[in-house]
Amino acid sequence: MDYPKCSLQLYISHARSLGLAKKKMEHTQRKPTLEEKGEERAKVEVWNYVLGFSKIAVVKCAIELGIADAIESHGSPMTLLELSKTLKCDPSSLYRIMRFLVHQKIFKEVQPKIPSDPKSYAQSPLSRCLLKFGENSMAAMILLESSPVMLAPWHCLSARILGNGTSTPAFEAVHGEDIWSFAAANPGHSELINEAMACDACLALPALIDSSLEVFNGIETIVDVGGGNGTTLGFLVKACAWITRGINFDLPHVVSVAEESDRVENVGGDMFDCIPKADAAIIKSVLHDWGDEECIRILKKCKEAIPEDKGKVIILEAVIEEDEIKDELTDVRLMLDMVMMAHTSTGKERTLKEWGYVIGEAGFSRHTVTPINAVQSVIQAFP
Ligand SMILES: C[S@@+](CC[C@H](N)C(=O)[O-])C[C@H]1O[C@@H](n2cnc3c(N)ncnc32)[C@H](O)[C@@H]1O
Repeated sequence: MDYPKCSLQLYISHARSLGLAKKKMEHTQRKPTLEEKGEERAKVEVWNYVLGFSKIAVVKCAIELGIADAIESHGSPMTLLELSKTLKCDPSSLYRIMRFLVHQKIFKEVQPKIPSDPKSYAQSPLSRCLLKFGENSMAAMILLESSPVMLAPWHCLSARILGNGTSTPAFEAVHGEDIWSFAAANPGHSELINEAMACDACLALPALIDSSLEVFNGIETIVDVGGGNGTTLGFLVKACAWITRGINFDLPHVVSVAEESDRVENVGGDMFDCIPKADAAIIKSVLHDWGDEECIRILKKCKEAIPEDKGKVIILEAVIEEDEIKDELTDVRLMLDMVMMAHTSTGKERTLKEWGYVIGEAGFSRHTVTPINAVQSVIQAFP
């Protein structure tokens, strides 16, 4: 067929578009393979790694501004204007922060009864974790982990891993000393560590007390090894009226600022030297700061502190699952293991087998492991 020039061009473009449309149809009709689906998913998920830091940074900003505290003391949802006046913030910047936090489901948006009124912001269980003080507050923990001191060692993680264990630990590479010497020389950072650990104790101790109070039956005196500011013992003496004396044992710079309380006394010292004697020892989130060799030394000192016949050491630590029995805190335990790598010289989270090894090497005859509703399990080691 003979086409005039311009009609020929029209024909070609028409034919091309038909061909393309057909191809497109074929494309949309064919189901993507698993691999293609995975690739599409990856293109979205990778952004979590590109910009994921913004979540912790904005949450830190929210704590510093006191957004949750302002809404809590207001007693009801607050409009942007009310919030920005209370916090003395630029409303347009605060609006963007709140939009992000609402999207993350940290705060809730409440629609007004009268549509022309402004919407307001309300607390959620998650935003209550950002209260500076409060039952479930994790504010100190977030402020600690997002502090420049704790963030800097993450930049040295790969350097630590290279060199077959001969390289300087990440925290020491940045700060020139290990975390505990650094804390002794920097009271502000030490206070942040103590407050952060107290947040964790406020989550773990109620879980332990709720499900396993019998662990403390018959114990009249108990020493908390590396007890920080004494929060753990505070929970225990309150829940166990039969405990007559709790000894909060930690490094001198820690106990010198810990509050004294009824039935709890603070004793300073070094757990590698000698631990005060008691019916039982409890040790929470301390052993994971240390490698096997130090762990065995600490556990031997704990064993020396308790009676051979009826004593026990109560260890509260994470257990890394080796098989498929994973719970929703598995991620947290694996992240904690990375934190140990960044912040301690030899610390690590341990599997059941690894716990069995250090406990056995320290000379205990048997041990039990009981999961509780927390990141940690309760491990009881008997002489
Ligand atoms: C991660 S914190 C745990 C605090 C507390 N047990 C808790 O879970 O809330 C570790 C504690 O071990 C203490 N610590 C470190 N080295 C110590 C030592 N040589 N002797 C006694 N305590 C020590 C630290 O001061 C710190 O309070």
